[in-house]
Amino acid sequence: MGETLNIPPEKTPQHVAIIMDGNGRWALSRGLPRLAGHRAGTENLRRIIRASVEFGVKYLTIYAFSTENWRRPPAEVQGLMHIVEDVIDRELNELNEEGVQLRHLGRLEKLASKLRKKVLSAVELTKNNERLILNIAFNYGGRDEIIYAIQNIIRDGVSADDVNIEMMESYLFTAGIPDPDLIIRTSGELRTSNFLIWQSAYSEWYVTPTYWPDFGSEEYAKALETYAQRDRRFGGIAEKFYE
Ligand code: FPP
Repeated sequence: MGETLNIPPEKTPQHVAIIMDGNGRWALSRGLPRLAGHRAGTENLRRIIRASVEFGVKYLTIYAFSTENWRRPPAEVQGLMHIVEDVIDRELNELNEEGVQLRHLGRLEKLASKLRKKVLSAVELTKNNERLILNIAFNYGGRDEIIYAIQNIIRDGVSADDVNIEMMESYLFTAGIPDPDLIIRTSGELRTSNFLIWQSAYSEWYVTPTYWPDFGSEEYAKALETYAQRDRRFGGIAEKFYE
């Protein structure tokens, strides 16, 4: 908390996306059940949301549950569902008062109807907030998102020649949200795990061995400072090399 960020606003990423990995290993290393790791991860999320507002990040996207996470033991899946329900119950009013807009990325159909309704009403309640847009990827998969977009494009009768990048993006769960500038992955794995695979085409990555529950605002500031040093060329070359 109260971490200072040593970068000018124009070098601050507008959109940060996070793969919050390592909750299970964090718990295991302390002899605790995996769900204790997810609860500690949730506490950390509060810190990172606050820090995002302080640092001037406009969009924060978190990978909370993937389309593949259903493969985990039923007790862990149920536990994660309860944690999210709990977080909505306990934190929604404060998030709303702080000006946080909640958006959901992914499919709601497969979720229990009670949770689905809670997510929808949280999205509705906060839809006019603008201080921070918090996208929660829950039952989200990048491949699933692309399939969903293509299905809807076909259903809408769009002709093949009218398919282009902009129109494709308007069919993704992230429609209207700029691509992530920086993707942070905790706990050291070097893979995308089906997260924002379309949107991350030119994102910068910051991977750290730190487990998610231990990734505090100090290291978050370091990640943003590292990002500020990057030379983003989006496939082009630096201007000084122009003839
Ligand atoms: C990855 O750690 C973490 C997850 C799959 C779940 C993350 C969920 C939360 C932090 C809950 C908060 C979410 C909301 C929306 C409030 P892992 O279990 O893969 O850890 P491991 O790789 O060490 O086993």
